[in-house]
Amino acid sequence: MKTVLVSGGAGYIGSHVTVELVQSGYNVVVADNFSNCDRTCFEGVQKILGRELPLEVVDFCDAAASDALFAKYHIDAVIHFAAFKAVGESVADPLKYYGNNLESFVNVISAARAHGCNNILFSSSATVYGETDKLPVTEQSERQPATSPYGNTKQICEDILRDCVKAYEGIHGIALRYFNPIGAHPSALIGELPRGVPANLVPYITQTAIGKRECLSIFGNDYPTPDGTCLRDYIDIVDLAKAHVAAVTRMVDGRMKLDYEIFNVGTGKPVSVMELVTTFEKVNNLKLNYRIAPRRPGDVTAIWADTAVGEKELGWKATRTLDETLASAWAWEKKLAGK
Ligand code: UFG
Repeated sequence: MKTVLVSGGAGYIGSHVTVELVQSGYNVVVADNFSNCDRTCFEGVQKILGRELPLEVVDFCDAAASDALFAKYHIDAVIHFAAFKAVGESVADPLKYYGNNLESFVNVISAARAHGCNNILFSSSATVYGETDKLPVTEQSERQPATSPYGNTKQICEDILRDCVKAYEGIHGIALRYFNPIGAHPSALIGELPRGVPANLVPYITQTAIGKRECLSIFGNDYPTPDGTCLRDYIDIVDLAKAHVAAVTRMVDGRMKLDYEIFNVGTGKPVSVMELVTTFEKVNNLKLNYRIAPRRPGDVTAIWADTAVGEKELGWKATRTLDETLASAWAWEKKLAGK
C-alpha cells in the first residue's frame, strides 16, 4: 500500500481528496496547522471512512517540522495544498502570501527529497492563465502576468516544481490547474467552510439562501458574454478530488510521460454567473435574493478548460452534473445550519 501525505488535508479540497485516496486504497497522512480551517472537515472525513486517520498538526513553514514528518512516515507521494488562498487579502498583505505559500512549498520539496519521496503534486489554479480570448485554455496556453500576489504564488510554485524536477534526479512533479471547485461530498459530512464573508460565488449563494447573508451581489452584467455575466468552469469537488487520485496513481506507477506534467482540472463547459444562480434556484426549489452590482476589480470575463489532455493522459473526466453539485452545496449548508 502506498502512502500519500496530504498537506492542508483538513481544508476544503484536501478533505475531499483524502476521502477519495483512502477509498482508492491509499494510506493517507493528513497534515494541517488549522490556521485557516477547523476540525469539522477532518472529523467528517473520518465519519465518511468509518475510521481514524493519522493527523499531524504541522506548519510547513517550519523546515525542521516538515523534515520530521517525512522522517516519521515512509511517504511515496505528497500532495501540497497548504496555502493561503484569498485573492483580496493577498493584495492587502503580499508578504503574508509570499512568505507562507512559497516557504511552505520549498520546505515540503526539500523534506521530500531528503527522505526519498520523489512524487510531488502541486495544487495550482486556472488563475495562472489570466485574461485571454483564446478559449478554452489548454495546458499549452501561455500564462499571463498574475493579477494578484496569490496568483503569483501559484505561478512561482509551478516554476519551483518545474525547476526542482529539472535539477534533481528522480523527482517527478505534477501541477493540477483547478478551475472553479464547488459543491460538497454527497454525504454532506464535508464541504466548503469559509471563514467570515465568503469571497467565492457558491458559498455566498448558499449563505444567502440560508439567511446568513441578505443579498447576493452579481458582479457585473455588462460583460461581452451571452447574458452579460462572467463565464467560469465550475468543477464538482468530488470530481476534482478524483483527478488527484488519477494523477497520484500515474506518478507512483511510473506512468508519467514527462518528469513534470501539467493538467487542467475542469469540465470544459462555460457557465455564467446568472445561469449558476438560476440553476441553484431550480434544483433546490427556492428563490434567491440577488441584485446586479458593479463589476469586481480583477475578474476576468471568461475562462474555461480544454480537458482533452487530462482525459487522455489521466483517464479522468468530470461526471457530476451542475444540478447534482449545486444540490450538494445546498445540502451541506443546511447541514451546517442544523436544518
Ligand atoms: N461572483 C459574484 N458575486 C459574488 C462572488 C462572485 O457575482 O459574491 C462572480 C465573480 O464575479 C465571478 C464568478 O462569480 O464572475 C466566480 O467568482 P469566484 O470568486 O467564485 O471565483 P473566481 O473565478 O474569481 O476565482 C477563481 C479561483 C481563485 C482564483 C481566482 C483568480 O477560485 O482561486 O479565480 O481570479 F484566485
